[in-house]
Amino acid sequence: MDLPLTDPFARPISYLRVSVTDRCDFRCTYCMAENMTFLPKAELLTLEELDRMCSAFIRLGVEKLRITGGEPLVRREIMTFFRAMGRHLERGALKELTLTTNGSQLRRFARDLAECGVRRVNVSLDTLDAEKFGRITRWGRLAQVLDGIAAAQEAGLRVKINTVALKGENEAELFDLVDWCAQGDMDLTFIEVMPMGDIGGEDRLDQYWPLSDLRARLATRYTLTDLPERTGGPARYVRLEETGSKIGFITPLTHNFCESCNRVRLTCTGELYMCLGQEDMADLRAPLRGSDDDAALEAAIRAAIARKPKGHDFDYSRQQVAGQTLRHMSHTGG
Ligand code: GTP
Ligand code: 5AD
Ligand code: SF4
Repeated sequence: MDLPLTDPFARPISYLRVSVTDRCDFRCTYCMAENMTFLPKAELLTLEELDRMCSAFIRLGVEKLRITGGEPLVRREIMTFFRAMGRHLERGALKELTLTTNGSQLRRFARDLAECGVRRVNVSLDTLDAEKFGRITRWGRLAQVLDGIAAAQEAGLRVKINTVALKGENEAELFDLVDWCAQGDMDLTFIEVMPMGDIGGEDRLDQYWPLSDLRARLATRYTLTDLPERTGGPARYVRLEETGSKIGFITPLTHNFCESCNRVRLTCTGELYMCLGQEDMADLRAPLRGSDDDAALEAAIRAAIARKPKGHDFDYSRQQVAGQTLRHMSHTGG
């Protein structure tokens, strides 16, 4: 095999995140505007094309695949794709196949996912209050998501909860969320809200709750011990000594973690984004469709990785939003 993928800053690229649809059955206020225009279906890569793309990355050394969206489980026949990726797990080329989901469809799919070799799922959940949940997600129902999480656990999947820290929304629920995750044996990671895409009238700065502040508040009740471990993701972890549970912090605004970035992102139309927070991307659909053999595709992947930028430029520190991207998180899948 040729040399594994390495970017200009000597970071090995071993993690591919794949957004399989830009659609979602929720409309979270920090993520989307209520009236979103989605891509016409004809623009999407077919499941066979997604398979060919991912298989090329795996041949080039990618060991971890995370399926995202929008909401990945609303893509039609998506289990066909998960089953196809399961073959790379079985032969050992892929070490982990996983997904990030809003949980709404987990009751339906948890067992199938486990059968495809998925071992853990990340579920986005920002509040345990049904009324607030309805407000934040606009279209979501809390009971359905909690039932989905239960289904995932019944199927033997480990669940990590991702919570976007939202000023004035889930501030008061900090300890409830922490206790609920500890009781359910789930890891919990907090995320700072990032300036991605127009969200129609809402103000990012009004939503922003820095995790430095959240952490200080946690420390009023618990003894926090910093943990050295990294999962290959951007989160830093602490242990709460009183409960033994583990809490992660993803802090693109207050602490930049780009130096250890190991990932790139493929959208559902075959664009490869080398950084979540930059506009530069490479079109991989043209070389994929241009030829039946993968030589041109592999060359395009290598050329794209060779221009991976050093990091993102998100910044709220001058009381205004800087480094904003035009596209929404749902376009690149987080
Ligand atoms: P594990 O560590 O494998 O559990 O996953 P992860 O944290 O990489 O994946 P997850 O989908 O749970 O990521 C949580 C969120 O962190 C994403 O949806 C993004 O909001 C954010 N995030 C992940 N990777 C990056 C990154 O490279 N840059 C920035 N700025 N944010 C990221
Ligand atoms: N900033 C931070 N996190 C976001 N997410 C969606 N939009 C944003 C944003 N602007 C989160 C979701 C989910 C993950 C895929 O990304 O809540 O946890
Ligand atoms: Fe859908 Fe996730 Fe965006 Fe909410 S954050 S609208 S669940 S893609």
